[in-house]
Parts: sequence; structure tokens; C-alpha cells
Amino acid sequence: SKKRIAVIAGDGIGKEVMPEGVRVVDAAARKFGIDLAFDHFDFASWDYCEKHGRYMPENWKDQVGGHDAIFFGAVGWPEKIPDHESLWQSLLLFRREFDQYVNLRPARLMPGIIAPVVRKDGTPRQPGEIDMYIVRENTEGEYSAVGGRMYPGTEREIVMQETIMSRHGVDRVLKFAYELANSRPKKHLTSATKSNGIAITMPYWDERVAEMAKKYPQVKTDKFHIDILTAHFVQRPDFFDVVVATNLFGDILSDLGPACTGTIGIAPSANLNPDRKFPSLFEPVHGSAPDIYGRNIANPIGQIWCGAMMLEFLGHKEAHDAILKAIEAVLDPKSGAPRTGDIGGKASTTDVGKAIAAAL
Ligand code: NAI
Ligand code: MG
Repeated sequence: SKKRIAVIAGDGIGKEVMPEGVRVVDAAARKFGIDLAFDHFDFASWDYCEKHGRYMPENWKDQVGGHDAIFFGAVGWPEKIPDHESLWQSLLLFRREFDQYVNLRPARLMPGIIAPVVRKDGTPRQPGEIDMYIVRENTEGEYSAVGGRMYPGTEREIVMQETIMSRHGVDRVLKFAYELANSRPKKHLTSATKSNGIAITMPYWDERVAEMAKKYPQVKTDKFHIDILTAHFVQRPDFFDVVVATNLFGDILSDLGPACTGTIGIAPSANLNPDRKFPSLFEPVHGSAPDIYGRNIANPIGQIWCGAMMLEFLGHKEAHDAILKAIEAVLDPKSGAPRTGDIGGKASTTDVGKAIAAAL
């Protein structure tokens, strides 16, 4: 059946990398006989806001709520509007209203990219040695709005903010992480905790992990406190397969993981509603990059990789794998394929998108 994709390019280089994302997703759809329709929306951008006085129309939910997925570029135009306003009027509304409770980010060492983390003996890590997914809880935890400030501005000032963990909220993200681990060859799940210091909520998280682990005896489970876990990410990233974490710990790990592979500029991310009651949203990790916008030099690989994740989530793993292979082929320095300036080349955004579509 036909799958409908809502395309929202957003601001800045979102408008430049999105056409390449669509180009490659479309090429994959043709290759594998996937019936896709793209609907383009101009909201969630400063251009829209300038005309209408807000980042999104009132009925944005009706406009995109019926789609199978949202393919998103980037938002933010700090010269015109403060970042927290553009973000809270757009991306964060999607995450909340569409109950996208999993934030999923791969950290995978690609050919032709030098990983800043090396082996114990000082030699470089090779593609295949780092290949993990970070699963971040995306709706509760440390990022709650429960708290307050008392006696502001006085010596007696007190500020507090609560961590919220619901059984429903914890279990559903753990279940997603276990299913993912179970689907991968290593079948290895690592939980990020801090139950030695945060003595109420984190022991609860550990308890729920132990409970969920019973349902997946074939998955090897371990847990590390977040402090030593960050050290392990740097020193032995080859150890990890699927890492699951609360909102705050997951936020940190999902930047650190891709950073260890040297690919934060081309990293993808998915905000998932695994229940499929609402559309999920696929967006590159990078922002709108006003400093390079307008020159057609942005690297489109993050957006294209997002497209691969989107197709996998829609049930087309073969298309995901083929796009990843095409990205790897183009990134391989031996291929002589075009590269953008951020990874040592001189090519345009369009050239790289076309090369990946051709490799596919
Ligand atoms: P940024 O990711 O836009 O840029 C950081 C640096 O990386 C810049 O030097 C930029 O030129 C470079 N860069 C980013 N993506 C690139 C690409 N595809 N190819 C080549 N170089 C690339 O982060 P920054 O500058 O902190 O934020 C700019 C705007 O983007 C702000 O309004 C911010 O709020 C927004 N932003 C939005 C995000 C989103 O939509 N999810 C995420 C991060 C930032
Ligand atoms: Mg972050």
C-alpha cells in the first residue's frame, strides 16, 4: 500500500540537504518497488513564520498527522528568532504531540572517516569496529516540567526539578531497545544507570531493566554507571551494540557515540512512535548551519541516512541496507566519489546526493 511521507525542509541547509534526501529515498523506492508519495510543507521555518507570525499553522496536526512518516530537515534561524522559540514551536511539538518516545541514533564508523578514538595500541579503528545504536527515552525522565523556584533572588533561594519515571514510560522504551537488540547479530544490550548516586529513580530503572531482561533471555544484558560508561564509549566502543538510557543520559550518549565515530556532521536521528499511532520523525543531528547556507556546500549524508532509517521503520530493511551501502561506497576514499568540504572534499551538496543515488 502507498506510504505517505510529509517532507518538512525547515530552515537554512535543511532546504539544501532535503532535496538530496528525497532524491535518494525516491531512488531506493523505485529500486525496491516501494510505493511512496511525498507531500511538501513549508511550515516549521522562519520563511513561514515571517509571513504568518508563527512557526507552524494552528492545524499542523491535521496536515501531517495522517502521514506514515515525517522527513525533517532542520529548524532555527537565530538571526531572526531565538532558538528556544523556533524549537518549542516546532520540533518539540512533534515529539510531544506525536508521542515519539524513542530517540534512536546509530553510531557507526564509516569508511573514509577518521574516528577520533583509537585502539589501545594507538592504531586507528576500522569500519565495523564501531556499530551501535543509542536508544534514548524521549518523553519523561529528567526532562520534566515539574519543579519550581522559591524565594527567588534571595539568600534563601531554592530551585528544584523532579525526575519522572512512569512504569509505562520506562517499560515501553526498554521493550523497544530489547526488540532492537534481539534483531541484531550481537544481541547485546547495555543499560546506562547511576543507581549508586541517584538512589530513588535509577534503582527503579535498573529494576525494570532486570524485569524486561527476563523476557529476552537470548539477549545479553549489562549495565554501567553513566560516568564510567562514557569512558568505555571512548576506550572500547567496539564493545557496544544497543545502549538504552533515560532522557538525560541518552541525550549525552547520543552525541558522544556519533562523536566517537567522527560523524556528528553526517549523523542521523529518529524520533519514533513505535506504536505507530502517530507519525515518526526522521531528522539529521545537525542544525540549519546559517554559516554555510546558500552555497550548496552542506553535506547531505545526514539527511540521506535519515531517509534510510525512515524506510527501515516503514518495513523496508533491504532499502535501508542498500542506502547505507551506497553511502559507504561514496565515502570510501578509493572510490574517488565527490565529498563535501566538511570531510575534506570540494563537491557540492547536489553532486554528493547524485553520487549516492547513482551508487544505489
Ligand atoms: P549546526 O549543526 O547548524 O552547525 C554547527 C557547525 O557544523 C557549523 O559550523 C555548520 O556549518 C556545520 N555543519 C552542520 N551541518 C553540516 C552539514 N550538513 N555539512 C557541513 N557542515 C555542517 O549547529 P548550530 O550552529 O549550533 O545551530 C544553528 C541553528 O540550528 C540554530 O538555530 C540551532 O538552534 C539549530 N539547530 C537545530 C537542530 C534541529 O533542527 N534538530 C539541531 C541543532 C541545531
Ligand atoms: Mg543533545
